Amino acid sequence: MHATARAQPNIALVKYWGKRDLARNLPAVGSISITLEDLYTEMSVSFDAACAADVLVVNGREDPALLPRLSRCLDSVAGTKRSPARIESRSNFPIGAGLASSASAFAAVTVAASAAAGLERDRHALAALAGGASGSAARSLFDGFVELATGSDGISVSSVMPPDGWPLRVVIAVTAPGPKPIGSGAAMELSRKTSPFYRRWVDEQPRDIERAHAAVRERDFAALAAVAEHNCLKMHSLMWTSRPAVVYWNAVTLTCMETVRALRADGVPVFFTIDAGPQLKAVCEPQAEAEVSEALAAVPGVRDLLTTGLGRGARLVATA
Ligand code: PMV
Repeated sequence: MHATARAQPNIALVKYWGKRDLARNLPAVGSISITLEDLYTEMSVSFDAACAADVLVVNGREDPALLPRLSRCLDSVAGTKRSPARIESRSNFPIGAGLASSASAFAAVTVAASAAAGLERDRHALAALAGGASGSAARSLFDGFVELATGSDGISVSSVMPPDGWPLRVVIAVTAPGPKPIGSGAAMELSRKTSPFYRRWVDEQPRDIERAHAAVRERDFAALAAVAEHNCLKMHSLMWTSRPAVVYWNAVTLTCMETVRALRADGVPVFFTIDAGPQLKAVCEPQAEAEVSEALAAVPGVRDLLTTGLGRGARLVATA
């Protein structure tokens, strides 16, 4: 059987960094994210007993790089006795550059593979499976503002506000499109083992989650901006204080941060967040989008701007 699913990336406003259980890929901390709308990954999966092995085709070209992780994800979704799969992936945005492409890819492949294997699972079960492959992917199963809670018995993910409940906009400044120097999985292990601030990060996370939760509930932009920027800078402080240091920013990333902070000092409702890559994501109220886009486009070294609203969780788009 053949199935295609579509998923959008999500961007964490309170971040996940560090694992409590490597084998089960369980996050050490909870997180709060927004699922995007206009960037997407589509994944088609067909299980075919006549194939010799799994094959991955990305944007029309055979690409073995992500195949081992995808194959393990298919094993967890359809069982290790499954037939080999042909996986086709299409994204309308750069992959592997800190734009959360792994979140949309693993969310979409989990939904597609489950349907292709003829299995019926609810969103929570699919999120747990996607999270086993990529911690952030679990959040892309859900709409709008999403909370991921974690405990020693697993994760639980839910939507805390639908996309139209607070229709914020996101402007992504692409400062370098290439692949990142170190993947997030290896980098977060380095932080866990070597950053002197790791324990404090884990201990403070519940308070940041509660603050972000309250800000979303009350649609309090200033409060959300304060906790999101603080949490993002805390996560990057862990990376910088790892040994060896993990630095994903470049000079343009920093200039974009200054640009966003200057806009906010002028009363523009915008804040930034940055993930495991050099791209800056500016989150703003809808009326500020044009001004934010113009200011970021004028930063020397910004190569591209992607803009999007908030959107829906991963879903099936075709089965045959
Ligand atoms: O899901 P992973 O393993 O790609 O880790 C994602 C980590 C961050 O994007 C940096 C933060 C987050 O919560 O999405």
